Amino acid sequence: MSDHVAKNREYWDRISRDYQREHDVQLGKVEPTWGVWAIQERELDILGDVSGKDVLEFGCGGAQWSVALAKRGARMTGIDLSEEQLRHARGIVASEGVEVTLVHGSAEATPFADASFDIVFCDHGAMTFADPRRTVPEAARVLRPGGLFAFSMATPFLDLCYDAATQAVGDRLVRDYFDMKPIEDDGAVAFQLPYGEWIRLFRRSGLVVEDLVEIRPPADAKTTYEGYAPLEWARRWPAEHIWKLRRER
Ligand SMILES: C[S@@+](CC[C@H](N)C(=O)[O-])C[C@H]1O[C@@H](n2cnc3c(N)ncnc32)[C@H](O)[C@@H]1O
Repeated sequence: MSDHVAKNREYWDRISRDYQREHDVQLGKVEPTWGVWAIQERELDILGDVSGKDVLEFGCGGAQWSVALAKRGARMTGIDLSEEQLRHARGIVASEGVEVTLVHGSAEATPFADASFDIVFCDHGAMTFADPRRTVPEAARVLRPGGLFAFSMATPFLDLCYDAATQAVGDRLVRDYFDMKPIEDDGAVAFQLPYGEWIRLFRRSGLVVEDLVEIRPPADAKTTYEGYAPLEWARRWPAEHIWKLRRER
């Protein structure tokens, strides 16, 4: 297990209980929502109709998204690195009475066969906490031709303005864009790439960019993730975005 995978497993096992308690209200909504400011999937329509599709949640955490999509007729699989997060997921799946296959493992090297899924997605999941040079080809491998890969995460703007010393996001660039390093915070390791590198990595992996949705939360947006970025900041610059990619046929 690589160093960042071990660190992130330890981190998510450690914070899982408090995390689920703190964000339960936001994560547990019937209508699934994207990102820190809980923008509804119904509004963004990233995944489209999931009914009858094989869908993989890539770092499913408490599996709230997987449960919501299973209720819409998707055949759901969730993979996560953290046993503690999966413990929550099993509880939620059982109490909601839906079928979701939960797998303990890393999104960097999954146990799934080639071309097993119609959709691979995550909302601030493994695409933040695992190395994209491994997860992007892995998602492409398990997707069927024409399949959708969609994920939300922090933007490079946010990461460049994040000051580790104050653990806050300001209105100045305080980190380098070129030779960008993963950000380590409280034991967790989060990844980011410059835009050009993302696009070259997608193309090398056989993925075509369909959209890059830059999230601008409404002025009255609410969140349980208060420390992520000030709402006024995210109204001026994109703090999160969603990549929407298509596996080449
Ligand atoms: C912020 S949660 C995402 C789940 C849910 N969407 C949410 O917002 O709570 C991030 C999840 O990614 C998982 N994770 C981190 N690294 C991973 C990896 N290499 N493979 C699979 N899951 C990973 C963590 O264990 C955690 O459950």
